[in-house]
Amino acid sequence: MNAPLKNDRVPWLQGPSADSVERAVKCSTVSSEGKNPWRLILLGAPGVGKGTQAELLTERLGACHLSTGDVFRAASKRRDCDQSPAMKAALEYMRRGELVPDSTVWEMVRERRECILCTGGFILDGFPRTLSQAESLKELMETEHLSLSAVVNYELSVDEIVQRLSGRRTCDKCKSVFHVTEKPSKGKGVCDRCGGRLFQREDDRPEAIAVRLEAYERSTAPLIHFYKNLGLLLPIVAKGSPDEIFTRTMDKLADDKSKAS
Ligand code: AP5
Repeated sequence: MNAPLKNDRVPWLQGPSADSVERAVKCSTVSSEGKNPWRLILLGAPGVGKGTQAELLTERLGACHLSTGDVFRAASKRRDCDQSPAMKAALEYMRRGELVPDSTVWEMVRERRECILCTGGFILDGFPRTLSQAESLKELMETEHLSLSAVVNYELSVDEIVQRLSGRRTCDKCKSVFHVTEKPSKGKGVCDRCGGRLFQREDDRPEAIAVRLEAYERSTAPLIHFYKNLGLLLPIVAKGSPDEIFTRTMDKLADDKSKAS
């Protein structure tokens, strides 16, 4: 597997419609040498810790953290006139905790297909989330002769998930994730990494959390069987500290790789 890389995720977060002079579609560092990059999907209920693990995995494996939720949140910061009607509608779904329609999500991912095809690999977080999205991704990857390394499924009780979501705080600049008790920042309300302001996500309100958990059970949980049938699923218990879960994940990935070779 290739050496760790640094990646700023600008092409993923902004997409090809970004209007900066540089059009901001180039990564600051892109691997052109990765012979066998990691291509992972992280599955699991909202708040199970996918984003937290994606950051740790990115640091270790070098593959880029691609979160569809982060793309929507980045779009919500744009001026109203820079948001397409489809994106405005998508943000309303997100505020309520509902899933954004498949057609909008797939259009957004398709626009960023270079990130999926990147020679540095990827760690997908929050996508795919429905069978239709999983089928679309599978078709794209087959067309491009790419294969997934594994699909990691994080498992945790609903009570612990709600506790994680209600205490989450996110940096408005670099998107780093904290928790008021489990992973507090050193300065109150300030990101340790970049000094940005920490905020509570709108969809972490109790009403939205209930809707998200219901949407997960209905639409996303079936993906567990989908990827199990493809022989790609790696279930991981998501209890314990982020570092413990990360070690568990790396052990499972290494074990899976040695079985495959
Ligand atoms: P998205 O941003 O993908 O949110 P999500 O899947 O609901 O997941 P979260 O980001 O809430 O949680 P996480 O598992 O990443 O946990 P985290 O690491 O932050 O999607 C948001 C919305 O966008 C969706 O509801 C939908 O509307 C829309 N959307 C996005 N993609 C879509 C798609 N493909 N199709 C349709 N709609 C889509 O951790 C949570 C908290 O716990 C943090 O505070 C963290 O510090 C803490 N924590 C993490 N690990 C631990 C630990 N081990 N111990 C204690 N605390 C921990």
